[in-house]
Amino acid sequence: MASFFMMRSSASSFSCSIFLSFVLLSFCAVSRAQSSVPGMYVFGDSLVDVGNNNYLELSIIKADFPYNGIDYPGGQATGRFSNGKNAADFLAEKVGLASAPPYLGQPNGVFVKGVSFASGGAGIFNTTDESLIKHTIPLPHQLGHFSTVRQRLAKELGSHLEDHLSKSLFPVVIGSNDIINYFNTGSDASQKYSPQEYVTLMVSNFKELLKGMYGLGARKFIVTGIALIGCAPKVRYPTPTGECNKDVNYWAKKYNDELTLMLHELKSELKEFQYSYFDTYGVFTEFIQNPATYGFNDTKSACCGLGKLRAKFPCTPLSLFCSDRSDHLFWDVYHPTEAAARIFIDVLWRGSGNYTFPMTVEELIAI
Ligand SMILES: *[C@@H]1O[C@H](CO)[C@@H](O)[C@H](O)[C@H]1NC(C)=O
Ligand SMILES: *[C@@H]1O[C@H](CO)[C@@H](O)[C@H](O)[C@H]1NC(C)=O
Ligand SMILES: *[C@@H]1O[C@H](CO)[C@@H](O)[C@H](O)[C@H]1NC(C)=O
Repeated sequence: MASFFMMRSSASSFSCSIFLSFVLLSFCAVSRAQSSVPGMYVFGDSLVDVGNNNYLELSIIKADFPYNGIDYPGGQATGRFSNGKNAADFLAEKVGLASAPPYLGQPNGVFVKGVSFASGGAGIFNTTDESLIKHTIPLPHQLGHFSTVRQRLAKELGSHLEDHLSKSLFPVVIGSNDIINYFNTGSDASQKYSPQEYVTLMVSNFKELLKGMYGLGARKFIVTGIALIGCAPKVRYPTPTGECNKDVNYWAKKYNDELTLMLHELKSELKEFQYSYFDTYGVFTEFIQNPATYGFNDTKSACCGLGKLRAKFPCTPLSLFCSDRSDHLFWDVYHPTEAAARIFIDVLWRGSGNYTFPMTVEELIAI
């Protein structure tokens, strides 16, 4: 477990040891009686969806059936695209909050401690909701939902609203689906834009959406880059020997590079904008290059699915699944296992190997 766990020491006080955090994660979280973070408002896609898509009746982008959730408390499928908890759950544990509930589960909720707007299949562009059967809540619509919640919070909190929102966290995990859609054979986007034009447009649209969130009172953002999605089982599957799709990885990386420049700009344009960027791409690369270091034995195939790389058919009750879920990087054709999500959040929280900048989430909270 070398590099990730030689975390840089931090001025801040939280002190469950690294070893303990594996064994006693929940106890550590509970023992922090009160979180200094009043709420967490989560935006994004299936990497952090906690069940919003369960409520999208016409959508086939769902995870509310087995074997999803097989390692979740109670062994239940909740709509998380995972064998267990996802990154949003682990982040909430670190912060000392309960996992933010899905917005669509309580359409009239006030959500003082936060809520999740995240939706499987969602992207920066509204076109991620274009297909009739692949219904999603794209980021612009998620922002609309936040605006609704904010009005309710204003009623509830009155003059404390601004302070509440400025201390709350706003994780945004988005972009993979826009890239995946572009590279789908014969996609509209690829007829209309060059890949360079497309990633630039993604970043400029994302910038406007972040400004919109800021305009509604958000100050502390956690923004993730997109992962090495060219190495997801679904993307490896069509290649002859199951190798990664270099083109997809190249443009994912290009997008991340432009995204980090944009965040830097935004910080100089908006006086109180603060962020922690997470280099998901870098961490994935590290997992694939040094699997054993992180306890992985298989970083190529899905744990749950059927056929070559268990990626020919998706994870359903008719699929096979691997016996040791913690030694796989991928749970299904696109999504990481609970084991991988836990490591992501450990790195995001304390930082290491420069995968989190300009500050860790721990530092972001302390500002
Ligand atoms: C995307 O949808 C949002 C919310 O419905 C809308 O306000 C916005 O104009 C749309 N964006 C584009 C580029 O069509
Ligand atoms: C996975 O485990 C098998 C059996 O223990 C071992 O032979 C193999 O080298 C491992 N593969 C990786 C990538 O660690
Ligand atoms: C992190 O970045 C700093 C400054 O750029 C560099 O000196 C250091 O070697 C990097 N650390 C790692 C582990 O890459």
